[in-house]
Parts: sequence; structure tokens; C-alpha cells
Amino acid sequence: MASSATLLSTFSSSAQYLINGMSCSDKQRSLLLIRPISALSEKPSPSKTTALPMREIPGDCGLPFIGPMKDRIDFTYKQGRYEFFKSRIQKYDSTVFRTNVPPGPFISPDPKVVALLDGKSFPTLFDVSKVEKRDLFVGTFMPSTDLTGGYRVLSYLDPSEPNHGKLKQLIFFVLTYRRDRVIPEFQSTFSALFGSLETELSSKGKAEFGPLNEQASFNFLARAFFGADPGKTKLGTEAPGLIGKWVLWQLGPILTLGLPMLVEELLLRTFPLPTFLVKRDYQKLYDFFYQVSGPVLEEAERLGISREEACHNLIFAICFNSFGGMKIFFPTLMKSIGRAGSKLHLQLAEEIRSAIEANGGKVSIRAMEEMPLMKSVVYEAFRLDPPVPFQYGTAKEDMVVESHDAAFAVKKGETLFGFQPFATRDPRMFERGEEFVPDRFVGEEGGKLLRHVLWSNGPETESPTVANKQCAGKDFVVLAARLFVVELFRRYDSFGIEVGRSSLGVAVTVTSLKRASF
Ligand code: HEM
Repeated sequence: MASSATLLSTFSSSAQYLINGMSCSDKQRSLLLIRPISALSEKPSPSKTTALPMREIPGDCGLPFIGPMKDRIDFTYKQGRYEFFKSRIQKYDSTVFRTNVPPGPFISPDPKVVALLDGKSFPTLFDVSKVEKRDLFVGTFMPSTDLTGGYRVLSYLDPSEPNHGKLKQLIFFVLTYRRDRVIPEFQSTFSALFGSLETELSSKGKAEFGPLNEQASFNFLARAFFGADPGKTKLGTEAPGLIGKWVLWQLGPILTLGLPMLVEELLLRTFPLPTFLVKRDYQKLYDFFYQVSGPVLEEAERLGISREEACHNLIFAICFNSFGGMKIFFPTLMKSIGRAGSKLHLQLAEEIRSAIEANGGKVSIRAMEEMPLMKSVVYEAFRLDPPVPFQYGTAKEDMVVESHDAAFAVKKGETLFGFQPFATRDPRMFERGEEFVPDRFVGEEGGKLLRHVLWSNGPETESPTVANKQCAGKDFVVLAARLFVVELFRRYDSFGIEVGRSSLGVAVTVTSLKRASF
């Protein structure tokens, strides 16, 4: 758990980073940590003894094959995921119930889960003393390890497995060893993105944000973490396309691509896509990462990880975890801020520009600390639309899980599942939980709510460690999201968008950009 003091230690230039001798992951991380609005250390966790009435877990998974197929069609096509869960909460009068989740036959051996759909029961999924997180990263199935060089990469490992700690420590190293480069590389890659948006907007009247964001995000990650410019290597601008295909091979069984239902069912959800079809694409990514990550591979050897295993883990952490997260989250940020309208835009522009001016005209961690509305807007976007909405865990022991209204006995070996927006929009924790409220996290009272912001697979007031499964990049991601909003409103007074759907998140088209007038 992070104390306020730990959270205060930031990227501050006085913090001297020493690569050699930094074996303690907490030390490494403490250099990266950024300060939330107000750090509280209250930990929501289910208790063993309960004052709540015990209730049998309602819900019925139906007959084998037929039940999972019906639930899959309802979830994916007929109802959609929000209505799927909402209608069952109403039917069972409970936020905890049994159901099947996609994909089911024939990809997932057992799609039966106990769904936890409120802010009180959901955090059970973070308690690694009670749940095992082995091979559950993307759902009740695990993609072939042929897609990750034959290795079970970090995201699939439970903290009880010896490799988990070593690999997570390596990722903490990646996140810190070039930390001084993060802000400048972000500024240069994203100012190029805004330049391209403007050019496209003036020639076509509108500009798709997604493709430009993907290119900028990959370039930023490669430059910030490895000091490498993909455009100057054999990889060129290919990475977003290669990663998109590789991710499809992994997430296909739970995605919708907008194709007719029968086609998708046959193509994506009947058998895994053959891995040899993506081998060459993956090799290109491998060659790039192997070539640019020398110091990281040396650190890996020092930690007792082979260069090869380290490189496959780097690909996953950068291309799946980081690039995938930015690909989903930045359009979400644009959507939420764009829809909030020009009054909020003006407030953000004023706050951001005056804080920069008061800090010598430079964007810095310190200057961003003086932007409470900007920070709140970022947390609010994470709360409303957590980029990775599904979480899973297997009960390690018989246990009791509490919702607000009842307690439920879960048996060892059962799969627990959460659809995070139902926890982070829980009306008993957040007033107007379904709405984007830009200043929700401003001030002391607002800061107290941060413990219910869970996008990183843990409360925002806690920190990733080698012993938990919280996102290793939590603080880096918050920093990047803050930088995105800062760069946006340094450059523009306001902007207009159209929002559509995409297989992962939203598709944003920029329709207007009003250049900074003050
Ligand atoms: C917007 C961007 C990101 C989002 C939304 C995100 C979200 C998440 C979530 C939800 C998990 C937990 C998944 C689970 O086990 O159920 C996770 C794990 C992880 N993330 Fe992130 N992440 C992002 C960026 C990053 C970055 C920048 C890095 C590092 C460079 C990173 C590295 C990891 C790693 C290594 C894990 C596995 C942790 C473990 O096994 O203990 N992520 N991330």
C-alpha cells in the first residue's frame, strides 16, 4: 500500500537514479510515482465474518453448450454487455450472480463465472491471497503461447509463481531507467500528432484520431523507453498494424468486428485462429525490440531472466499492455472531454496555461500538480470507462463475498468475474455515477473517492508491487494521460468531435480545432 510520503516522491530532478545496485523494485518505482489528488490508504476488501444476510448465489448457467451459447449471443449481439448484466441484476435482484461469459464453446473450457457487479464485491478480485490470477488475463480462456514465443508472459502469471516477481521487477526497470525522457518524448511525438490532425482536418474537413494516435503512441513508447525512433529502423510505421493483427489473434474470441454474427461466430469463436498466420508479423516486432533494448536485456540477465524470455515479455508489456491501453484510453479521453463542451475546455485551458506560466513556462510534474481540474478529468475518464473492463480470478479457498446487501458463499475453484464499470459507476459510491462529472475528484472530499477508481486492477490509492497484480505502468499511464490533456489545451482553446464505435472502445473523428487564443 502506498503511503502519502511514497506517493510524494516523484520524477523530481533531484532524485538521482542509479541503474546499478537498484535491485529493489519499490525503490525503482518510487522514482516514477506521481501524486494522486489525495492519497488515502483505506483498502476495500471482503471480510470473513459478515453482518449481512447470507444468500445463495442466484443465477443459472443453463444446460451444457446451450446455456453458454445463449449467454454468448445475448452478451455479444442481442443485448450487448451493459444490458446483459443490467437485466440480470434486475432479474435476480442481486449484483452477485452466476452466469456464463464469452467465449464459451469451443474455445473456453469452462465459461461459468460468479459475476461481481458492484463497488463492494468487485475488489475481491484484487485480493491475491484469496484469488488466483493464473492464465486469466484475457478471460476464461488463454491464447496459445505460440503468440508469445512459447512463454507464459507476466500478465498470465500469478504472484505466487517465482517468475512473476522477477519479470515485474524488469518492467519497473523499463519504466524508470529513462524516466527523464518521458515528458520531452511525449511532447515531441504528440505535437507531431496534433500537426497531422490539423493537416488532415484542413484537407478533408475532418480527421480520424485513432490511426494517428496509434502511431504517436507507439513512437512515444519506443522513444521514451528505449530511445529508439521506429521510423529510422526496418519497422518504419508498421507497428500499429502488426500489433493490431497479433492482438486480434489473442482477443478475437471476445471481440466484435462489426461483421455479420454468423461470420464472426465461425471465424472468431469456434476455433483459435492459426498462429502461423501471425508468426512473421510477430518476428518483425521481436527483431525491433531485441535490437533497441540492450540495457533492459542486460538488466534481465542480472535478474536471472534469459534475453529471449525478457524480449517476449517486453513485446507484451509495450505492445499489448501499454500501446493497447493508450489505443483505447486516449480516444476515450477525447470523447469524454469533447462531449463535455467548450465551457470545460476553456476552464482546462486557463488552468493548464496559468500553472505552466507559474512554473517557468515548462510542463513538469510540479506544474501538473497545480492543475486539479485536469487531474480530476483524467481520473473521471478512467472511472467512467475503464479501458480494461473485465477482470477474472479463481477462488483459492472457500470464502464469503459481500455485496452491499448480502453475503455469498463462493467455493474454492470457482471463477470470479467483474465488469468494472458496474463497480466504478456504483450509485452507492458515486453520485450521478453514470455521468462524466469533470471536477468530481477535486478537493479533499473528491480525493477520498479515488479509492474507488479501479482501472489499474487495484484502487487508485494503492501501488503495483511484485506481490500483486496491479498494473505495473499505473503511474506512467496517469502521467501520460495528464500530458495528453495538457498538450491538447496548450495548443487549443476548444475542439469538436464525432464519436463512433470500434472493436476496442470508441472511434473519435475530430471535426474542429480552435487554436489557442490566449
Ligand atoms: C492505458 C494504459 C494501460 C491500461 C489501461 C492498463 C491496464 C492494466 C490492467 C487492468 C491490468 C491487470 C489485468 C489483470 O490481471 O486482470 C494490467 C496489468 C499489467 N500492466 Fe497495465 N495498463 C496500461 C499500461 C501499462 C503500461 C504503460 C505498462 C508498462 C510498461 C503496463 C504493464 C502491465 C503489466 C506488466 C501488467 C501485469 C502485472 C502483473 O502481472 O502483476 N501497463 N494493466
